[in-house]
Amino acid sequence: MSNITFGYAVCGSFCTFDKAIEQLRNLVEAGYSVLPIMSQNAYSTDTRFGRADDFVWEIEDICNKKIIKSIVEAEPIGPKKMVDLMIVAPCTGNTMAKLANGITDTTVTMAVKSTLRTGRPVLLAPATNDALSASAQNIGKLLNNKNIYFVPMKQDDPAKKPASVVADFSLILPAALAALDGKQLQPILL
Ligand SMILES: Cc1cc2nc3c(=O)[nH]c(=O)nc-3n(C[C@H](O)[C@H](O)[C@H](O)COP(=O)(O)O)c2cc1C
Repeated sequence: MSNITFGYAVCGSFCTFDKAIEQLRNLVEAGYSVLPIMSQNAYSTDTRFGRADDFVWEIEDICNKKIIKSIVEAEPIGPKKMVDLMIVAPCTGNTMAKLANGITDTTVTMAVKSTLRTGRPVLLAPATNDALSASAQNIGKLLNNKNIYFVPMKQDDPAKKPASVVADFSLILPAALAALDGKQLQPILL
């Protein structure tokens, strides 16, 4: 059992939930404590990729903890030193836009702000169809931010979705360990 605690914040990229939950399970099975967090959209939206209640049940079962699902619940994460590093996986274009511009109106943006406030690192695993269009400027800003790191990522379908980029979720743990050491796992572009 490790003495490291990861925050694991899930945003509304519903098509990547399976991959995100698989890595969440890997972290727990590797002996890390994980504090689960979901954006209000991720926590409450049923989509063609599954029912919100089913994902909530599965995540709480894996972590053996209740999900943090409101700004009020997320606010003490930093000051109470509840996590060593905050992982956001998947991180939507919406959440990156807010983070890049200092907007804190969701559970996940509050969890990130609260973590950064105490100088602890944040690791983003982007999954968005507009990473190389509308979100590109936000990714650029975040790359230039102290204590923000990225899970290495790549274009997932350059022919059909030329602006889409998705993190390689299997690299979440190595990227998290590098970030805890103050380093960006390279290469950042796969
Ligand atoms: C079925 C479905 C799939 C979506 N997939 C993505 C996605 O992969 N990436 C993304 O950035 N947004 C995606 N969205 C849009 C986000 O859910 C939306 O921007 C939402 O406001 C995100 O809120 P959050 O960032 O607080 O979780 C999707 C929406 C739906 C309904």
